Order: sequence, then C-alpha cells, then structure tokens
Amino acid sequence: MSTIPYLPPDMHTPAYVADMARIRENLEIAADIKVRAGCKILLATKAFSMFSVFPLMAEYLDGTTASGLYEARLGHEHFGKEVHTYSPAYDEDEIRAVLAYSGHIYFNSLGQLRRFGPLVRATRPDALIGLRVNPQFSLVKNSALYDPSTPESRFGVHAHELSPDVLAQIDVLHVHNLCENMAGDSAALIGHVAENFTEALGKVRHVNFGGGHYITHSGYDREVLIKAIRDFRARFDVEVTLEPGGALVYGAGYLVSRVVDIIPHDPAIAILDTSASTHMPDVLEVPYRPPLLNSGEAGEKAHTYILGGKTCMTGDVIGTYSFDAPLKIRDRLVFFDMMQYSMVKNTTFNGVPLPDIGILEEDGSYRVVKRFGYEDFKNRVS
Ligand SMILES: Cc1ncc(COP(=O)(O)O)c(C=O)c1O
Repeated sequence: MSTIPYLPPDMHTPAYVADMARIRENLEIAADIKVRAGCKILLATKAFSMFSVFPLMAEYLDGTTASGLYEARLGHEHFGKEVHTYSPAYDEDEIRAVLAYSGHIYFNSLGQLRRFGPLVRATRPDALIGLRVNPQFSLVKNSALYDPSTPESRFGVHAHELSPDVLAQIDVLHVHNLCENMAGDSAALIGHVAENFTEALGKVRHVNFGGGHYITHSGYDREVLIKAIRDFRARFDVEVTLEPGGALVYGAGYLVSRVVDIIPHDPAIAILDTSASTHMPDVLEVPYRPPLLNSGEAGEKAHTYILGGKTCMTGDVIGTYSFDAPLKIRDRLVFFDMMQYSMVKNTTFNGVPLPDIGILEEDGSYRVVKRFGYEDFKNRVS
C-alpha cells in the first residue's frame, strides 16, 4: 500500500485511525467466504476490540469470540450477536459470569471440562460446550511464539484423549492452530483434522477452525479455503466456524505520529510522539517492521533515520527507514496496518499518553472517537 486517504493535516497525534472503507472491503471478503463455504465467521476481539466499528462488522459477521469475561461482555453489549468464549483456564467465578454473556463456552483441558462442564449445562442449558484440541501439526511460519502446536504448547487436548466419555460431554471441537497463514495451510489444517479426529467428528455438531487464516491478504487464495470447508462439510455433518481477528482489519488502519526531535548521528535519529514499546508492542514482540508511508529501506532513499520511541527503553526502536527529503520536527509519519493487536495491547509505560482513536469514515471525514488523558494513566496505577 503506497497511498492513504486524506487525513486532516492538523489532526492530533499520535492517533490510531480505522479506515472504514478498507474495513468494509475486508468484511466483503469474509462475507463471500461465509456464503460460498457455508460457514460462520466471528471476529476475535483479542485482535481488535474497537467497538465503535462493531455496528459495521455486525452487518457481515456472525458474532465475536472472546478470550475471557471482559471481551465476552463487550461482544454481548456492543456486537449483539453470537458470543463464543475460549480461555486457557477459567476459575469458577469467571465461568459463572461469562455465562451471562456467552452461549458458547470452550475449555482448554479435560480438567476444566470435568470441573465446569456440568455447571455450564445446569446454569445455561442452551449453551454449547466446546473443547480445544491440539492437532500437533505445526504450520505457523513467522514465530514459534504463535504456534499452538509446539511440543511445549499448553493449548488443547490431544486426539488420543478424546474418549467416548469426553465426546459425550461436548458439542464443539475447537482447533485454533494458525497465525497469518495462507490458504494452503488453512486447507492442510482442515484436512489434517478430518484424518486425525475422524471419530470425534462423528459425534460433535460443530467445528471451529480458529483464527490465523489470512483471508484478506493479497496472496490468500480463498477458493482453496472455500473448497476445503465445503469438502469437510460434505464428509461430516457439522457446522463450521472460523474466528479470524487480525485478517478482518488487515491493511485497514494507521498509526499517525509526528517527529518530536532529531538527533545528529550516523544514521540520524528521529524521536517520535509514538513508541514501539507502548503503542505497537508487536513490533518488538513478533518482531516485525511496520510499513511506513513514503519511506524505503535503510539507504534506499537519500535520507536515512533510526525511528525511536518516547520511552526509556533502549530497544524502543521502530526501525531504520529512509525518505526522499530530510525529516523535520512536526513532520507526520503514517504507519500502516496498525489496527490488529495494537490498541488492545498498548500501555502507558513511562506515562506516555495513549494515542487518540479515530475513524476515517467512508465519506472521507475524520472524527476522533476517543481521546485519552492523564486520568487514564493515573487510574491504572492506583
Ligand atoms: C483461540 C484464538 N482464536 C482466534 C485468534 C485470532 O487469531 P488471528 O488474529 O491471527 O486471526 C487467536 C489468536 O491468538 C486465538 O488464540
């Protein structure tokens, strides 16, 4: 992506900006998959919880999937459709509270299923119970941090543990095993589950193939996914659900920042009003290099800068980028693809102010939906 729609030159920064036209384009892709594959698609709110965008998303998607009580409540109150919840572990208070918001409860272990399955059935008989399974089939390529199938993984029950007694207690098999994977891997996962969980698939009514399907990426051939789901549904009498997060907002929002200082150095250093550590933590955690409007690799254009954040952490560096013209104080820098796993993971470390949350509407107008201040920093620490 080398252009962005118009943003007011005097806009307050830093700001996360959701580009509604591009989010709608992503949702159209999801809707096409839903209709032609005959599956449901949920938004994984762990990736993107910006509920001011939920009304648009609810036009296309079947609901949300939560990582615990707060996300379940958010989905229930602001999305208004199905709410599924999976947590690596619940305690009893959380399960009781989640049941008020969520009609699909997924457990991670046999111990959790044994302890809380009867409570779910007794408290909310209409709720479906799911069990996460671990396919032991590594497909994630970007980082072992995001591969649920590593030998040390704490996620899911193995195929041999699915005894008839266990299968009698569950309605849904949950298989989250991907992260930014292309269609060949989605299909490989679906095929692997068909071959390795065949008996279980004769007993459950639903299969949730998790997130990590990079359906909106230009390299993702959705025909391959659609065929895999259709074949799977033809073989097993089950309803299929997907729960992507990142893909639904991929390429559909920005983090807009400004240059605050420039330090002579070789290469020169620019300090921004944003920070990798606080506002784009996955840049350091994954790690990855965020795309930046009108920039090149180090040395590619005439003027190269190390872009540093506003915190005390030496490693709080976004990356080294080059530009056609020298940077000046107050210049605006627009990082792309900043909706997923950004505002849901940000912090006020060092008291760095949180970015505005803004919406670029489909008619081209820009509005700030949330501005944070000192109280937001203060209220998190005492
Ligand atoms: C259980 C589960 N479902 C869905 C997702 C969403 O994944 P993604 O944002 O990669 O599509 C995740 C991400 O970690 C997850 O753990």
